[in-house]
Amino acid sequence: MKLGIIGFPLSHSLSPVMQQAALDAAGLEGSYRLLPTQPEFLRARVQEIRREFAGANVTLPHKEAIIPFLDELSDEARAIGAVNTIVNRAGLLVGLNTDAPGFLKSLEEAKIAYKHKRVLLLGAGGAARAIAYALKKGGAKVLVHNRTAERAERLAEELGVGFLSNATLSHALKTCDVLVNTTTVGMKNPAASPLEANLLPMRGAVVDIVYNPQTTRLLLEAGNAGLKTLGGLPMLVWQGALAFELWTGHKPQVGAMYKAAQTGLKDL
Ligand code: ATR
Repeated sequence: MKLGIIGFPLSHSLSPVMQQAALDAAGLEGSYRLLPTQPEFLRARVQEIRREFAGANVTLPHKEAIIPFLDELSDEARAIGAVNTIVNRAGLLVGLNTDAPGFLKSLEEAKIAYKHKRVLLLGAGGAARAIAYALKKGGAKVLVHNRTAERAERLAEELGVGFLSNATLSHALKTCDVLVNTTTVGMKNPAASPLEANLLPMRGAVVDIVYNPQTTRLLLEAGNAGLKTLGGLPMLVWQGALAFELWTGHKPQVGAMYKAAQTGLKDL
């Protein structure tokens, strides 16, 4: 079984070690390769997948751009407007999104409740769209805030969630049950946090989808303030685990995927 990940650049992807560990643990013959693809070669790459691959993951910058080249979309991928997983059904390429259910799995595993809870998202990029969609479907009350307000307003309108302006942010922060950072702030600069420490929620949990570093400044400060914390590695593992199941029909050994991802992180 040939699998791989389409993106550019891909040197920091943990997916190959994680998926290879899942294939090996399941006793399946197969390989999962990096498929670095510049935008102008995306169409040709999709044709290669159609001919030769059982499936693929899709990452930056192609999660949206790949949609016109696929044959079918899941309802989730259509609503989110982004595909992170392709399944090849006898030459018919189906685009799905496992980031959304993968995020919910990571919350459930960490025993962070979201149903009927107030969940505040920082950021309005592709990751925020998947997470807002998933949380809303899972019964959470979702509010979105972003540095560029218009982007958050558009996301809120398109996905039917709440929008937070600068003026309403600090009150909403104090009263939310779960805060999720979907911005890239703590990844680009480990010394930075998307939120001043005095604005942290008073209760509940803080989740950062950044997985490198595993403990971002935001999570460190939230932990010091006595809040429950969760980093981004579980979401990464679960989106991969759900993709693996779609491709192979086998439930993966998630523990083996975690172990491979942890080891891979050390080598980055
Ligand atoms: P994607 O590729 O997922 O669409 P992106 O464009 O890289 O995402 O942006 C991810 C998120 O991080 C956005 O919400 C972005 O805010 P803007 O819409 O205002 O650009 C946010 N982000 C990135 N750097 C930031 C920073 N220094 N401060 C606050 N937010 C930041």
